[in-house]
Amino acid sequence: MTIGIIAAMAEELEILLKDVTLEEKNEKANMTFHKGKLYGKDVVTVVCGIGKVNSAICTQILASEYKVDRIINVGVAGGIGKNIYPGDIVVAENLVQHDMDTTAFGDKMGQIPRLDTFDFKCNAEMISIAKKACESIPELNSFTGRIVSGDQFIANIEKIQWLDKEFGAISCEMEGASIAQVCYLNSIPFVVIRSISDNANNGAHMDYQKFIPVAVKNSTRILKQMLEMM
Ligand code: ADE
Repeated sequence: MTIGIIAAMAEELEILLKDVTLEEKNEKANMTFHKGKLYGKDVVTVVCGIGKVNSAICTQILASEYKVDRIINVGVAGGIGKNIYPGDIVVAENLVQHDMDTTAFGDKMGQIPRLDTFDFKCNAEMISIAKKACESIPELNSFTGRIVSGDQFIANIEKIQWLDKEFGAISCEMEGASIAQVCYLNSIPFVVIRSISDNANNGAHMDYQKFIPVAVKNSTRILKQMLEMM
């Protein structure tokens, strides 16, 4: 079994990359794919770049060229709601693209037109392993629920209130739901695990800079634990 591991930014993957025993390195679509062994598992790790187009291209390469059997997306995200703080972990149950809007045709906000699903569901077994990994590190707070993605860095209170009301989202980021869509179209089981870097409110970009190191450390801890359990 080969597991594809995607992060949007180099800093989200750099701790993990040090532990990869490299077998092969390839450049495709301006992305570097590292194939090798990580904690006893066959993996392909890749930094896809920010946003839904980059992450979709990357996921399709993992599917078509590397024929991965599972995909895990890790990284940081904005927290939605009062009780969620920087450093906390969110495990996606399902994902929606919050910036997909064909409401003019009567579709629900977030619905991808002419697709037979509204949300993209993470694999139940992978969610369960991710939750067990979280429970094994009791000092980490974790949440499970819907993550929404869009090509927008959210730094606005009204917008997060809308994401909460419209989608019931617990977290927002910029890649997960497009990775999820490509996995759905290729029938690849996947899960998205993120660590909170900010509360997506006014000043989120400042928190983001400050909390990225702790968020990356925490999501890497969970991923390591998960791979050992898979
Ligand atoms: N990733 C981390 N924080 C984010 C935010 N506030 N909006 C979108 N993506 C993010």
